[in-house]
Amino acid sequence: MQSGQPISFSRGVNGDAYIGGCLVNDLVKKYGSPLYILDQQTIIENCRSYTMPLSQYYPHFRVMYAGKANLTIGLLDLLTSEGIGLDVSSGGELYTALQSNMKSEHIIFHGNNKSIEELQLAIDHQVTIMLDNDQELDRIMHYSSKTQPTKVMVRLKPGIEANTHDYIKTGHSESKFGFNLSDMVSVVKTCHESDRIQFLGIHAHIGSQLFDPAPYMALVDCMVGHLVTLKQELGIDVHQLNLGGGVGIKYTEADHPLPISDFMTTLSQRLVQRLDEKGLSHPLLMLEPGRSIVGDAGVTVYTIGAIKSVSKEKTYVFVDGGMADNPRPLIYHSEHLFELVRGPVNGDHSDNGQFYAIAGKFCESGDVLAQKVLLDSPKSGDLLMVYGTGAYNYSMASNYNRAKRPAMILVNQGQSQILVQRESFEDLIRLDRRLEHL
Ligand code: LLP
Repeated sequence: MQSGQPISFSRGVNGDAYIGGCLVNDLVKKYGSPLYILDQQTIIENCRSYTMPLSQYYPHFRVMYAGKANLTIGLLDLLTSEGIGLDVSSGGELYTALQSNMKSEHIIFHGNNKSIEELQLAIDHQVTIMLDNDQELDRIMHYSSKTQPTKVMVRLKPGIEANTHDYIKTGHSESKFGFNLSDMVSVVKTCHESDRIQFLGIHAHIGSQLFDPAPYMALVDCMVGHLVTLKQELGIDVHQLNLGGGVGIKYTEADHPLPISDFMTTLSQRLVQRLDEKGLSHPLLMLEPGRSIVGDAGVTVYTIGAIKSVSKEKTYVFVDGGMADNPRPLIYHSEHLFELVRGPVNGDHSDNGQFYAIAGKFCESGDVLAQKVLLDSPKSGDLLMVYGTGAYNYSMASNYNRAKRPAMILVNQGQSQILVQRESFEDLIRLDRRLEHL
């Protein structure tokens, strides 16, 4: 299988691409281009690669999908059916989740600067709040009642360096998220003593797109150390331990992610060992994977428009989307694998190709999705697939240049259904107002 391809991906006898048993050409005919496709089977297998080993080695767990990776009501209904909970990081994500089958008691609300409106929405629905700072603590106490104390977890900066892009590192001591370790005891004490707060546990997230298990093992050790401190200094048995998300996926051949189930086995065995050594009871273990649940389930399909040769070395293939539907290459210099939907003209695509730069249609020179992609005689009208776009593509998409955001569909066993409809021109001006005065 190629890097980042969904599990159900296959090619028919003439080489045409299928995802979820659906011919990609037919999907584009039906739903238009560009198109985000999510493969249900991949999502389910990814969920189970977490839940199955955990059920065996640390049965007191809940996987809290990080909704920032990709959040729609239909997707949440699918995840709920797999017994997955949710981490949200804004009022908008929370509001969306409240319209789905996800139970509010299975939602945690993150964020370093939650507004009063957002806190109130969470408090009203008894959603657990991930406490980030002192001002937020004051606000929660102010808006919560003694009759229904607000459930709170405390986010810590564990001081662990993760080897990933600077923008997606979060566990180091200068991160904007969470409390310094030196403040942990006093914050937990305040929460624990407040009759308006129900203190549940502690959390840390060290970064995203991580391949090395070592920082997670260090995290287990360090968080168990904090459980010991809280027991010794405050006499508290902490009920919940949240180790965040961040497991990386294979975008290109250079990426070597951890097989999730092996990783979960190692992580849970390490946790049990450390807890038992310290004589601690087993708290509810939470993990917050986002990318590793939906990333490789997603494929974006574009239609090739013009092809422009600008020098002997460089030919651009222009597609009908770009930085507005996938801002990741521009922000993180991320790489993805590209392939034509149709079969190769002669034999294998990769044997007959030439290199092309893939550029979007947006009015910005930086709108280049890839600098060097091997393609077999691309032509205007051909469909081009980009793998590994299930996470942080739709959720980070914009309307730059007043682009209509593409539709996102879910495919499985030869059937397709809409998760999000394609935007229309009317949608783009829906919130615009004419001037009242000139
Ligand atoms: N938990 C917390 C507290 C987080 O901040 C994040 C991601 C996650 C869980 C999920 O991490 P994951 O399993 O998806 O790696 N836009 C960037 C990624 C930003 C990640 C932000 N936080 C990208 O496109 O690579």
